[in-house]
Amino acid sequence: MKKIPVTKPYFSEEEKRITLEVLDSGWVAQGPRAAAFEKNVAEHEGVAEGVATTSCTTALHLAMSAQGMGAGMDVIVPAFTFVATENAVLSTGAIPVLVDICKDTFNVNVNKLLEVVEQKYYKKDRVLINKETGNALWGIVPVHEFGLCCDIYKINSIAQEYNLHIIEDAACALGSKIGEVHQGGFGNPSCISFHPRKSITTGEGGMILTDNVELAKGLRELRSHGCTISADERDKGKGFLLPEFEKAGYNYRMTDLQAAIGQAQMKKLDYIIAEKRKKVALYNEMIQSRIPELITPVEPEGFFHTYQSYVCMLDKNRLKGKSIEDCGIYRNYIMQELEDRGIATRQGTHAVHTLGYYRKRFGYMPNMFPDAYECDRLSIALPLYVDLTVEEQEYVIENIGEVLSNGNGF
Ligand SMILES: Cc1ncc(COP(=O)(O)O)c(C=O)c1O
Repeated sequence: MKKIPVTKPYFSEEEKRITLEVLDSGWVAQGPRAAAFEKNVAEHEGVAEGVATTSCTTALHLAMSAQGMGAGMDVIVPAFTFVATENAVLSTGAIPVLVDICKDTFNVNVNKLLEVVEQKYYKKDRVLINKETGNALWGIVPVHEFGLCCDIYKINSIAQEYNLHIIEDAACALGSKIGEVHQGGFGNPSCISFHPRKSITTGEGGMILTDNVELAKGLRELRSHGCTISADERDKGKGFLLPEFEKAGYNYRMTDLQAAIGQAQMKKLDYIIAEKRKKVALYNEMIQSRIPELITPVEPEGFFHTYQSYVCMLDKNRLKGKSIEDCGIYRNYIMQELEDRGIATRQGTHAVHTLGYYRKRFGYMPNMFPDAYECDRLSIALPLYVDLTVEEQEYVIENIGEVLSNGNGF
């Protein structure tokens, strides 16, 4: 039987060679390779600075902490995103305030965001205060979900009008653009991920991109326990004594082993994105002509989608008026059937308000964010990676067609 994974990192001999090179150098913790990788990524995205971290989650936490997010504050986040976005907010002591998304783009619904800003808060001096809890609204963490940039320019203008911070969760969006502007270049710090499901990987890893040189300096200190001189600089003769520690920081340092792999991966990034986009075009064509039960992902005019995942939706309008819950059971049946035929699929991501911790702590019910809930229950990510062949795509689509025609009572 065929075995088609949902994703597969794209490596060559270079990653193996460079790993051995770093091992031979003896410098395996953070050092010159991490600094070089930061430059590679920042340059690719057209941004002044990159600050490499152990993951996107730690990148988010670092950027949030450095910019003063903390207890007594609210932060607006989309309800449909990997839970790391909300967890990072919670780890600063602030409270995530969820907003529903748009089902076609999977990104935050800007109208609903504005509604929350205007209805949940009142203005005191220049600060928005939560009418129920008294928390101050710190800002917004919009997500570029699955590699499609959100409506960031509108969000920027809301933030400007109401004096709010923005940190972009660009975990899935390395290389994504609006027009010619890459994510990272929209005027806010953005945080990317190098987890193996992303376009390029360092095993685990993340990076904050920013044009703010002072902020980057502060982030580097905070990334390394609050230390004012990096290990690399000390090695280059900046002293044998431990330097000054002006802040209480963390150890969120990416290692040179990871960064070296990242450097090799960066050379492949544009190729990886281009290859994935070709496969996306083929899936779109196959599904639109043969599988009317599935809605293909959108790429709005002027946006450049990098497709961390190919996420389509089961069309509930074709499912005889069944509830979202029942449609979700059917979606799971389809995914199980595909799994049994050697095809791995995944739900796109989850609606955070349906997760146990968030349900219990904040009393969320599924219908509070209906579009996020629908995407949670009806999204399906199909296999997508550079080595995926046309025959394998054909096999995937053929099997989806077969499973749907069996119907299972739907
Ligand atoms: C939207 C989003 N934010 C944050 C993360 C967390 O990234 P990491 O695994 O690098 O911490 C992910 C990972 O999948 C993600 O999809």
